[in-house]
Amino acid sequence: MWNTVVSNLPSFHPWRDRIHCLDTVDSTNTYAKTLAASGAAAGTVVIADRQTGGRGRMGRAFSSPAGMGVYLSLILRPRCAPEDLMHLTCAVGLAACDAVEKVCGICPGIKWTNDLVYDRRKLGGILTELSVNPQTRLVDHAVIGIGINCGQQPADFPPEIRSTACSVAMLTGASPDRGALAAALVDALWDMSASLMSHRAECMARFRSRCVTIGQDISILRGDTVLHGRAIAVDSEGGLLVRFPDGSTQTVTSGEVSIRGMYGYL
Ligand code: BTN
Repeated sequence: MWNTVVSNLPSFHPWRDRIHCLDTVDSTNTYAKTLAASGAAAGTVVIADRQTGGRGRMGRAFSSPAGMGVYLSLILRPRCAPEDLMHLTCAVGLAACDAVEKVCGICPGIKWTNDLVYDRRKLGGILTELSVNPQTRLVDHAVIGIGINCGQQPADFPPEIRSTACSVAMLTGASPDRGALAAALVDALWDMSASLMSHRAECMARFRSRCVTIGQDISILRGDTVLHGRAIAVDSEGGLLVRFPDGSTQTVTSGEVSIRGMYGYL
């Protein structure tokens, strides 16, 4: 079925010849990182029907059964310092939303910073991994991994995420054409990569309008400590501005953020 990824792309698409379609892999991100380390070009894409060790943020697993989702990783080689790429995951989230909207007809939100959500349930996730050259301190490559739940019914999810995850099929009544969705994703990521450094302000403005976290009561998990506050804004770099009950504010750039009433956090 993955042969439809390439056939759904325009014949002149610059990344058309860089797409690796696999049946089963441990993780498309791990596979792409190996390709990148051996010199694979920017625009190299790895797509798998099934992952046996799909990875999410904070060391979590990403459930990736055969025939049910789009599991895709992209290699980019932006010439910049890692701190200039704080907004990358935000830009990828927007590209993923655009592709889902185009192919599936539903408009997901983004839970800061890397989850695609619909009706307070997780539809997909993004895992961005940067490799920095220790000599130059510049980015050597970025591997961007995206997983979108397409055909699952609740029973297809592991019990621990059954009440908090959703799929396109659960939302629309039909599983999308995964080849068409993967192709739309590749195309949206191409557009994203072309404007990543030059249109950051526009990207962040779009992100704010998609981000369901702003205005919500949240908890922030940092090691063993949990802080409670309210998310009030997303700054120009993609950081989350949080106000705490004592009136102080802080910009959060990493760590686990839970929204009250979402994914079971109350
Ligand atoms: C998260 O939920 O924290 C992020 C999930 C990212 C999953 C995608 S699926 C394709 C790529 N390969 C992986 O192992 N992870 C990402």
